[in-house]
Amino acid sequence: MLAVRSIAAPARRQLFTAAPRLSLAQTQMQSRRWNSQDSKVAKYNGIKDSNGNYPVSLIEGDGIGPEISQAVKDIFAAAKAPVSWEPIDVTPILKDGRTAIPDAAIESIERNKVALKGPLATPVGKGHVSLNLTLRRTFNLFANLRPCRSVAGYKTPYDGVDTVLIRENTEGEYSGIEHTVVDGVVQSIKLITREASERVLRFAFQHAQAIGRTKVRVVHKATIMKLSDGLFLSTAHDVAKEFPGIELDSELLDNTCLKMTTDPLPYNDKVLVMPNLYGDILSDMCAGLIGGLGLTPSGNIGDECSIFEAVHGSAPDIAGKGLANPTALLLSSMMMLRHMSLNEYADRIEKAAFATLAEGKMLTGDLGGKAKTHEFAGAIIDKL
Ligand SMILES: NC(=O)c1ccc[n+]([C@@H]2O[C@H](COP(=O)([O-])OP(=O)(O)OC[C@H]3O[C@@H](n4cnc5c(N)ncnc54)[C@H](O)[C@@H]3O)[C@@H](O)[C@H]2O)c1
Repeated sequence: MLAVRSIAAPARRQLFTAAPRLSLAQTQMQSRRWNSQDSKVAKYNGIKDSNGNYPVSLIEGDGIGPEISQAVKDIFAAAKAPVSWEPIDVTPILKDGRTAIPDAAIESIERNKVALKGPLATPVGKGHVSLNLTLRRTFNLFANLRPCRSVAGYKTPYDGVDTVLIRENTEGEYSGIEHTVVDGVVQSIKLITREASERVLRFAFQHAQAIGRTKVRVVHKATIMKLSDGLFLSTAHDVAKEFPGIELDSELLDNTCLKMTTDPLPYNDKVLVMPNLYGDILSDMCAGLIGGLGLTPSGNIGDECSIFEAVHGSAPDIAGKGLANPTALLLSSMMMLRHMSLNEYADRIEKAAFATLAEGKMLTGDLGGKAKTHEFAGAIIDKL
């Protein structure tokens, strides 16, 4: 008998809804949905407060989180970005035996539709499950968007890298469906549904349009996982029909790794989209191409709410010493401003940040400099 160790509720729901074959009527309904151009995935619907600012939930996070959050707040204030911060506490609570986010925090993010998040520490081998995973599940953040752009002034083996990767964030190998078959034999289920694939793929096409790229590439292993990756790939071909101006192709994951580490520049004109695990690994590889996680922003995109976060962790070794580099959180907040259609502010702050990095006079220790977090932020403010 199978002993079901852990099945996350959304995955369980998906497992049971995904199993039956679609009837003709359902298929027709889906293709009608595929043909509907009116539904922009993950559109920001926030509303200004009485002071004319858009409220944003702020999770400062653990370790270096409060220091890098302060730097972002100072830079936003200096740029007069029309944003008001609503700090929230996501210290986990147990609800029906499961790790959950406190209700006040959930209400804040649901109300504001957008959050900026510092790193959260996860206890190893004990305590609550990853809060990052809990946040993704709570708000159904179905796409993880990771752009990686070379930073002038920070030399790496490659110049001019500009990759954009989108990872399916809710299912695949991370569905949390695992069984012990018999002692010493375990089974982990990779769950792929047309619904989740369609959603992330449509987001990838729309994002390509939004950033002016005309190519979307699916990264997969459908040669081996013929059904699961095969469904992801065939759904991509269906969704592509909605976007005649965008060219779709596909590439095997191992081949992508080889080609990207040999020469990443041919990927600068594409948006890459892939199932969960491949995206997890390949996005860190892309971060390595531009100098590591300290410079890499990301966005967790959902239909109702989106959460933007630095990719690095809470860096307990340097916490509280003013040594942290706030660049990744700042670049994540630029993605957030663009998601909110506040592009003008994002462009101005980003220009000042890149100019400060390129100048190289006021860099934090991880980039070879001696500046404190607030001094680096001050140098950016001077350039605004
Ligand atoms: N998204 C998240 O919230 C997230 C991501 C990864 C890890 N974590 C958590 O963070 C904790 C620490 O994880 P870790 O040590 O494996 O990874 P880490 O990213 O916190 O640190 C790795 C190394 O990079 C350095 N570093 C990281 N960010 C930096 C920054 N902004 N400026 C300068 N140096 C920086 C650290 O000092 C450390 O030497 C763990 O509890 C882990 O679970 C959270």
